[in-house]
Amino acid sequence: MRSFFDETAEKAKALAVKGEATILAVESSCDETAVAIVKNGRQVLANEISSQIDIHALYGGVVPEIASRMHVEALSILYRSALKNAGIGPDELDAVAVTYGPGLVGALLTGVSFAKALAYALGVPLVKVNHIEGHVSANFVADTTLEPPFVCLVASGGHSHLVNVSRYGEYEMLGHTVDDAAGEAFDKVARVLDIPYPGGPLLDKLAEEGDENRYVFPKMHTVNRYDYSFSGLKTAVINQAHSIRQAGGEIVARDWAASFRKAVVDALLDKALLAVKDTGAKKLALAGGVAANRLLRREALRRGEQAGLRVYMPPIGLCTDNAVMIGSAAYYRLIKGEISELDLNAQPSIRLIEE
Ligand code: KG4
Ligand code: ZN
Repeated sequence: MRSFFDETAEKAKALAVKGEATILAVESSCDETAVAIVKNGRQVLANEISSQIDIHALYGGVVPEIASRMHVEALSILYRSALKNAGIGPDELDAVAVTYGPGLVGALLTGVSFAKALAYALGVPLVKVNHIEGHVSANFVADTTLEPPFVCLVASGGHSHLVNVSRYGEYEMLGHTVDDAAGEAFDKVARVLDIPYPGGPLLDKLAEEGDENRYVFPKMHTVNRYDYSFSGLKTAVINQAHSIRQAGGEIVARDWAASFRKAVVDALLDKALLAVKDTGAKKLALAGGVAANRLLRREALRRGEQAGLRVYMPPIGLCTDNAVMIGSAAYYRLIKGEISELDLNAQPSIRLIEE
């Protein structure tokens, strides 16, 4: 009897020749369960997301055990609604894709197990996708004309990367955070302002009405010119708030939020534009949950266009975690014949580029 891998490798070859594939994608790395169906890497047939934020908000952050249990409950429901909304049957799926890392190990395992069982039952190729690569690929869905090469600023709850996307699925790391990620800094500073979890989006909203010049926060310093470091800024902002309050003073939350947001966005874009200039890139893309930030979006467009660049960014719903981005990344892996065996495991600490 032929193995699952041999059988699906043959199917993957045939799909690559045609250049066509309808992929069902699964994402369960953190606190959103998502299933999507994406055609040829760019066309969204279904995009189902079940957010667990309300439950985790009760605890002030993601509780891994609860996340895993909720993924298990949601996956098959989302699978069925994805097929229904796409108007197709399971026999029309050409491949199954899944996020295998980075993320919470238990949460990842729920999606990986589901995807393996489904790929085996359907007899179709299984494609593993790195979550960060997924975030980058959301840009291919948002603008179907976008082609590499381009520089991508990936800023999420766990990562802040500046990467050169030289070809589909090929990355060169230009810089990354040496400590906290940008999203993490937003969430921690939000806590000081009594903004509930997840702080980033609400802090952003509050900042829209604030005076960004009222408070002055320290500038970022790193050894590598493209690296980020948000820990110093975060600690300075939190300590400054405590000192003002201990001395009986008050901080104006909206101005505090606006000044902090400006400091983060300036740092993100200063380095991104420096990298673009040094590498001679013509295109800059944003990706990851922090790319939903309103000031970052406005300033990337303004400063990018001023520098003569084309600036790309996914719509807000494709910046935060979703499975459409996984289905897009998977297409470019699949047509290169990069498929997995059924012993695929979750890799919670995997990087975008293995050293
Ligand atoms: O990419 P993502 O959904 O999950 C990870 O892979 O980490 O990113 C989530 C992060 C959180 O830290 C959240 O606070 C932040 O993205 N975020 C924002 C905004 N929307 C989400 N940060 C600033 N402004 C926003 N509008
Ligand atoms: Zn993410």
